[in-house]
Amino acid sequence: MVDAFLAGARDAGADTENIFLARKKINHCLGCFSCWLKSPGTCIQADDMPELMKQFQSADVVVFATPLHNDNVSGSMKDFIDRLLPLGDPHFEKDPEGEVRHVSGPKKAPRFFMIANCGFPEQSHFQVLRLLIRRMTRNFSTEVAGEIYRGWGSSLQDNELKPHVDAYKGLLRTAGMEFAKTGKLSAETARRLEEPLIPAPNYAEIFISNANAYMDQMIEANRKG
Ligand SMILES: Cc1cc2nc3c(=O)[nH]c(=O)nc-3n(C[C@H](O)[C@H](O)[C@H](O)COP(=O)(O)O)c2cc1C
Repeated sequence: MVDAFLAGARDAGADTENIFLARKKINHCLGCFSCWLKSPGTCIQADDMPELMKQFQSADVVVFATPLHNDNVSGSMKDFIDRLLPLGDPHFEKDPEGEVRHVSGPKKAPRFFMIANCGFPEQSHFQVLRLLIRRMTRNFSTEVAGEIYRGWGSSLQDNELKPHVDAYKGLLRTAGMEFAKTGKLSAETARRLEEPLIPAPNYAEIFISNANAYMDQMIEANRKG
């Protein structure tokens, strides 16, 4: 999903970089607040975060791309988000809606985009991420640039569904191009991205029957060694 989206963005002239957090050393936030109270802007831990924070700050848009893990972002992405704390200001203010947040920093945060896929087939499984990106943009005083979600993630690697998957990848590429050109997804593209990959009314039943058969096959194969 990310490759197709970024390819489209590059087609339209955007500079893109795809960073795999799982390949970086990112410790958990210790919650010690040293980055606010002792060494403002700098975490006391030595790992890959300083370099990642520089890249984060130099971007116009940051795409948070993640598999859905327990209705949320992956653990490595959660650690990355937590470790952005040094970029914030320790003081408090009211946001435009009257809710308390930390004071907006002098540097404007990049706009946030979310891309995710999940195991279950329905788009409703992204409920938490849809809310999370809105809360994150509020906390960072920035805005939601866009979001793309796709249930039934395994279908993207299913050869029998290749024509549907290729069409979907084409749509992702169009979305990337459109986003790089205009800074947003059109309502029509956003609507098409939410359509089921397989246009069948009984897709949940198809999912259950295929997924159960696959699981039984894998359990049996592993049992035999
Ligand atoms: C620890 C863990 C938790 C998961 N939690 C969910 C979940 O809450 N909902 C869901 O639909 N899929 C869940 N999944 C399935 C993944 O989202 C799914 O396999 C996804 O397609 C993986 O994407 P990837 O191949 O890009 O890593 C979970 C997978 C793992 C490993």
